[in-house]
Parts: sequence; C-alpha cells; structure tokens
Amino acid sequence: MFFSSRVAIGQVVLANLSLLNLVGGRYLRESDVGKNYSFPDNFVFGVSTAAFQIEGAWNEGGKGESIWDTLLHENVNFTNDRSNGDVAADSYHKYMEDIDMIKNLGLGYYRTSISWSRILPNGTDANINKEGVLYYRRFFKELLKADIIPIITLYHWDIPTALMKLGGWCNAKLVDYFEDYARVVFHLFGDLIKNWITMNEIHQHCIGGYDSNFYAPALSSSGFGVYLCFHYMLLAHARAYRLYEKHFRQYQRGKVGIVLDNNWFAPKDPKSREDQEAAERYRQMHVGVIAHPIFSDTGDYPAIVRSIIDDMSRKQGFSRSRLPYFTKEEVEALRGSADFVGLNHYTTFLASASSMEEGWQLPSLDHDTGVKLEKDPSWPKSGVPWLTVHPPGLREIIKYFTKNYGRKKPIFITENGLADNGELEDYDRISYFNEYLYQVLLAIHEDGCNVQGYFAWSLMDDFEWNDGYLVKFGLYHVDFNSPNRTRTPKLSTKSYANIARTRRIDFNYLKPPKNHHHYED
Ligand code: NOJ
Repeated sequence: MFFSSRVAIGQVVLANLSLLNLVGGRYLRESDVGKNYSFPDNFVFGVSTAAFQIEGAWNEGGKGESIWDTLLHENVNFTNDRSNGDVAADSYHKYMEDIDMIKNLGLGYYRTSISWSRILPNGTDANINKEGVLYYRRFFKELLKADIIPIITLYHWDIPTALMKLGGWCNAKLVDYFEDYARVVFHLFGDLIKNWITMNEIHQHCIGGYDSNFYAPALSSSGFGVYLCFHYMLLAHARAYRLYEKHFRQYQRGKVGIVLDNNWFAPKDPKSREDQEAAERYRQMHVGVIAHPIFSDTGDYPAIVRSIIDDMSRKQGFSRSRLPYFTKEEVEALRGSADFVGLNHYTTFLASASSMEEGWQLPSLDHDTGVKLEKDPSWPKSGVPWLTVHPPGLREIIKYFTKNYGRKKPIFITENGLADNGELEDYDRISYFNEYLYQVLLAIHEDGCNVQGYFAWSLMDDFEWNDGYLVKFGLYHVDFNSPNRTRTPKLSTKSYANIARTRRIDFNYLKPPKNHHHYED
C-alpha cells in the first residue's frame, strides 16, 4: 500500500440510476470476464489538476511570471480562442469550492501542482515569496482538514520566465535550480505533503515546447533542444529524488515519484513484422527514453534509442550525438529514482514505419523515430483530434510497463479522461471512465499488475494549453464567462463518484438518449 490508507466516503448516492435506461458499452458487457472484479482495498481514487490550468491570479500575491504567462501575453493568437491563464478557473481564490467539489465526489485524493514562480518569483531561492508559501500552506491544510490527501507535482510545465531566459531545460544549470526549488518546497511543505511528484510528462513538455512550438516555450529546436530537455529534466528529477532521500525522508516519511505520458502505440497491421517493429521503436523512443533511465534494472537510455540517435547524428554529419550522454554517476543517480510511477493515459495510436512525412523537421524526434502514427477510423472520436477512444490501450500500456520494468514500483494512473465541448450531460465521459477503469481492473486481476490508484482528468474544465478554454475535460463545468467562474457538476460526477464508492465498474452506466451527438470528422 502506498498512499496512506483512507476509505473514500461516498457522499454522492446515485439515486436515480434505476430509473434511467441502462446499457453496456463497446468494451463492457454484463457477460464480461471481469464482471465480479472490484478495486482492491488499497486502491485509491482521486482527481487531477495543475496550477497553471486552474489557478489564475497570474500576478497576485507576489507571484513571478512563468513561461506560459509570458508567451500568452506576448502572442495573443497563440491559443485557439486567443485566451490566456490570467484568471483561468480562479482556483487561487476559489480553492475552498474546489475542495467541496472533491468532497462531493466522495474522493480522498487530489493531485495538483505548485506554481514554481509563486514560490520563487525569479526561479531561484534568493527570493522566497512568503505570500505564495502561506497561500499553499492554507490550501494544503484545508485539504487535509477535509480528509483529502494532496499529491503535489513540483513541475507541471510552468518554468519561471527568469530561468527560461537562461535557456530553460536546454541549460544544465537548471538541474541545480530545480534542486534548490525542490529543497525549498520540501522544507516548507513537507510536514503537510507526503506524496510528491517531481515532473509531469517530461516527454510531452519537451516535444511540445522544445522540439516544436505548440506549447510554451515554443522553441522549435527540433532534434536538438528536445533531447537536452529530456536529459536535463531527467537529471533534475533525479537530483530532487536524491535530495529528498538524503535529507528529508527520514523525518518527513514521504514518497517521491514521477508522472510519464504513456499513450499506447499498436502496430497498424498487427500481423506485419515491420509494423510491430515500428510500434516498438516508437514506444522506446517516446516512452522508454524517459522510463528506462529511472525504472529499468540497467538504467541509462534504452540501447535502441542510443543507437538510433547516435547513428542518425553521424549520418547527418554531426561529430557528436544530438542525444547527450549520462556519466556513470548520473546513470546511478537516475536508476531507481522513484518510489512510484504515475502514468497519464488518454488514447491509442496505430504505428507503421516511415522515413519521412509531411510536417516532419530535419533533424527531429519524429524523423529519428521513423514512425508514422494514425488513428483507427472506427474508434469513437472526442472533442480533440488526438484523442480517440480505445480503452484496451490502457491495459496494454500497463502490461507493457510491467513487462519492461517489473512489479516492484506501484503504478498510479495519474491522468485519464475525455475531451468534449462542455456538455453537462456528458454521456461520452461517463462511458469513457467506466470502460477505461474496466481495463484497469483487468490489468490488476487478469494480468497481476501492481496498479494502486486512478486519478480522473480533470476535476473541472480548465485552461487546456493551446486549445485555451475550447476543449473541456472537467467533471465539473466552469463558466468562464462569469466573473464567479461558477462550477456546476456534470452528469459524470455521479458516475465517477459511484465507481469510487462501490469500488466497482458500473456495467449499466447511464445510456445516452437517442438524439445524443457523437463526435464525427
Ligand atoms: C496531460 C497534461 O498533463 C495536462 O496538463 C493536459 O491538460 C492533459 N494531458 C490533457 O491534454
């Protein structure tokens, strides 16, 4: 058992369920093998958010600017709706309402993040913002008072702008500055927080912000910056982990883990050898590259990743590899540097080999990988093109992770959820949660995987990065047109609360009415 034990108290009763039409889904039938499976006693249910996506108050309480503040102020057209995160869901002021929402869901766990520039406005520990510290202490204490255990991410993509001026994660010095930030945070909050996550989705952050330009800092340093970003973020993670291990664990008794983005990549033609190899190459270049240094027995980058990037760099005339090398000490610092792993999973892609595609840069991670990704047209669509619904992919990635890195470190699904346009009667989200959670049950009971928790993304509608407020992932609707940022429960709150309370899948989850709109091309 990992997070301290607490039985979620069901406060929401699914009162009218029996009055509604009931039906099983595509992957979920009454006759299914796992019908009688339930989530083990030590399995925890929670919800996730991240500071920049909900907090707002971008320049209040002594906060410094982060790269997202700066980028969105300087480029008003960056987001699809020309929005920014200045107010977002205003959780900085409305955190008591957020806590009530989590209570109403009957959940005992909340994963969110600290804004680095709210604690250290210039990024470094020369100036600690007392107001920011007091704010988070108040917030964490209120969570604990409500019997909700906070799981806190140190870095969810919002590096202080002052540090970006030094090159952000392309600069090795950031490893030191992240360690200093972690020291301040462990020191000031470690009495309240026992579950830490160093980094959220290194891979996604570096692809979006460093290999290309669809996330801040929009560097477009394809094939170069992306690997520096992987490298120094990994090392920064290890530094924070070792720091906690050496100086804090003994008296704070907490755990430190990391969250990785792990969608599933299946061969386009399962029978084709070439497609199987392409899928595995993609997994190693995009999943293994972050997971292997931390979770494998041997440590370091996967051999296949090392040789692909080294060979390609050589062919392209570089006298050194575009992927930096770890020293022996760094390999050791990284190896085993997590007490648990958080997997964020949303969707599945089909992989086939390709040496060049339209839109790929040269050099780039895509070109180095040499794999084209597509969607199966039969998979149900969502409010964003990249997210199609294929629940078995979640079981596959859990199995894959377990096969490669063993059962020792507990797995938490730290994000999983569906994007839509914000309907209050969010039947597609209800079916998504039930069907994906069913796959988690199968991974536990059929495959023996060590999955110990699930966090729905997201507690509420939020700032969805370059999609602004157009794309909604929330269990709660947020009215972004109202100064109150009014929160309203969607239908999915009932279904998710019911799963957490009963610790079982609802095989007869709420059926969409006949005129229900499904996403099409
Ligand atoms: C993963 C990221 O951690 C989160 O910030 C984002 O909103 C979700 N993916 C959905 O795109």
